[in-house]
Amino acid sequence: MAKQAKIAQLLKGQYLDEEVSIQGWVRTKRDSKGGFSFLEINDGSCLKNIQVIAPSDLDNYADEVARLGAGCSVSVEGRLLESPGKGQSVEIQAASVKVVGWAAGDEYPLQKKRHSFEFLREIAHLRPRTNTFGAIARIRNAASAAIHQFFQERGFVYIHTPVLTGSDCEGAGETFRVTSLDPQKLSQTDPTADFFGRPAYLTVSGQLEAEIYALALGNVYTFGPTFRAENSNTPRHLAEFWMIEPEMAFCDIHCNMDLAEEFLRSVFRSMLEKCPEDMDFFNQFIDKTVIENLRHVAETDFERITYTEAMEILLKSGRDFEFPAQWGVNLQAEHERYITEEVIKRPVIIRDYPRIIKPFYMRTNDDNNTVAAMDVLVPRIGEIIGGSQREERYDVLLQRIRETGLDPEEYWWYLDLRKYGTAPHSGFGLGFERLIQFITGMSNIRDVIPFPRTPKNLEF
Ligand code: 4AD
Ligand code: MG
Repeated sequence: MAKQAKIAQLLKGQYLDEEVSIQGWVRTKRDSKGGFSFLEINDGSCLKNIQVIAPSDLDNYADEVARLGAGCSVSVEGRLLESPGKGQSVEIQAASVKVVGWAAGDEYPLQKKRHSFEFLREIAHLRPRTNTFGAIARIRNAASAAIHQFFQERGFVYIHTPVLTGSDCEGAGETFRVTSLDPQKLSQTDPTADFFGRPAYLTVSGQLEAEIYALALGNVYTFGPTFRAENSNTPRHLAEFWMIEPEMAFCDIHCNMDLAEEFLRSVFRSMLEKCPEDMDFFNQFIDKTVIENLRHVAETDFERITYTEAMEILLKSGRDFEFPAQWGVNLQAEHERYITEEVIKRPVIIRDYPRIIKPFYMRTNDDNNTVAAMDVLVPRIGEIIGGSQREERYDVLLQRIRETGLDPEEYWWYLDLRKYGTAPHSGFGLGFERLIQFITGMSNIRDVIPFPRTPKNLEF
């Protein structure tokens, strides 16, 4: 019986000189004068293809094997041999090549030459069959595992926070409304007649619910999809993205910054360790500095400065920014990138932002002017993490809810947490796709998630 195998196993040297069986998709076929064909097969288990040698004396050679081309699916049986040829260590000498599914050569959109990422976005159902998107999928998988491992090793409890919520955590009014009412009649219908008896939204963040659990279990985290209806068509924004949000009781802003730094560095180290082949691919074809950058970041301490110090850097830079820097305004991507790429040249954590530009839940500092917010910025991306110490004082929180124009009655449960056994606590959110962009060097966030959701774009 032939050993059923994945190509990744065979390329690692398993089953050498044995009969093996593989299934996958033809990447290329080349016919040799010596009366046989070379098939390059990929099954997604790794970046590399395996070479199959199909001799012309196979029963179905003329009718089928000779007609194979890119995109066809096949099942191959044969002996795994050391390869005399250049470019591969082993190859399969086929005893049988069964065609499982045809792909008409002239119609199949993925031909040999390299396609632009813009074109591939239009065929999101086929792009995982390319080297780049196969590698992205494996990197996302390995990064997810590394993230869970980091928290699990430290005793954090994974909490499944809801996707449907009644509140806008960030208070930025960027929520998607969810309704079961007839859309035609929505504006005339009382929200109490809706499914939940009140307006419902897709969550923008699992933070508020994570806080509830942190104030019972200590250290927790969520890892789930989040949704934002912000109309920004940038290479760093999606309408649906995944976020990792740890939340820690009895932890202040400094403890929060320490965890964020340790966390990022640990994930980068795992990626270098666990995904050498895919990382080499990104380093060779996407960004020649990506491995060096990851190593550098995994090994160096992050700089820590205040927002006020960041403003001083920007104001004396002499740069002509599109959005002029001024104390009290939000840092723009151009400001963040200037600071981390050109001035500090490594990741930097900026803390203590003006109170007026930040959400209600962040803890007011003693100066009454700033809050204990922290953003982690990395070169090429800018903000990758946003977090804060949370306001744990009932009266101060109540005042902040009012000040930001929210209704305290809607947040009665959030206020309750400050009434019953309140404790200092902190947390942050890491944008998973921005993390993957940093790891792979991919420049557009639409290319690091299987099915990007952006304004006017929901084909798949
Ligand atoms: O800074 P943000 O808005 O923070 C929060 O949502 C907090 N509630 C997190 C917390 O403290 N638990 O978002 C966190 C991160 C950003 O730093 C960024 O990496 C990512 O989420 N992010 C986006 N990624 C892709 N597309 C978007 N539209 C994003 N908005 C934020
Ligand atoms: Mg932010």
